[in-house]
Amino acid sequence: MRRKIIAGNWKMYKTVAEAVELAGGLKKELGGFEGCDVVICPTFVCLTEVSKVVAGSCVKLGAQNLYWEAEGAFTGEISGAMVKSTGAQYVIIGHSERRQYFGETNETVSKRIKAALKNGLLPIVCVGENLAEREGGKTFDVVKDHVTGSLAGLTKEEMNKIVLAYEPVWAIGTGKTATSAQAQEVHAYIRKVLAGMFDQEVASATRIQYGGSVKPENAAELMGQADIDGALVGGASLKADSFAAIIKNAVK
Ligand code: 13P
Repeated sequence: MRRKIIAGNWKMYKTVAEAVELAGGLKKELGGFEGCDVVICPTFVCLTEVSKVVAGSCVKLGAQNLYWEAEGAFTGEISGAMVKSTGAQYVIIGHSERRQYFGETNETVSKRIKAALKNGLLPIVCVGENLAEREGGKTFDVVKDHVTGSLAGLTKEEMNKIVLAYEPVWAIGTGKTATSAQAQEVHAYIRKVLAGMFDQEVASATRIQYGGSVKPENAAELMGQADIDGALVGGASLKADSFAAIIKNAVK
């Protein structure tokens, strides 16, 4: 039985003070909640302060990216050890916005995953097709390419530490959610790809989140699907009450 995992990707929103307030609000909303894993991913500059707020609570911390080198003259970059030193346990890798705007490829995703694992961070690895690819009937090809390219060379033991997130780009920030059937179909397909790359055990154990306009109103339906093990939430994670409602609805 896979334990559900709901993560909030705060993207480039919230100053330090705002992030502290949001994290505090969420902690209050959730109290001693134990129904699933909960992760929030603020910007790098907020990690240390937010870490203090959520310490000892059910809310875990993640970053939104990392650089693969251990240290050096890489102005503006953040290493895995630096992320880890803030108290973060997770890191989002290969988000479509990074693929789209910052030149992220399967190769760089793979390097970042390895750097995360080396530093004891749990990667949340994003995959998903854009609208043209979906309309062109390429969804499965693109998803297979992202999964096989990003996870190439990992061992089964390393796969135990990885969470995947299927995020159809056309559903991100658009209010246009994939139907639960559309999402389930791709999630089941990802499991098939994992079985081919690794084995059935890895395929059955890997948690796969859905992301793209997840809201309190659609969370239960999406996460009621057999192969959907949680959500990666953008906009609706920026308010404590809506994110808490998604979390509670997901495990009903
Ligand atoms: P929205 O929930 O705002 O559509 O964003 C999804 C997302 O990109 C999470 O990583």
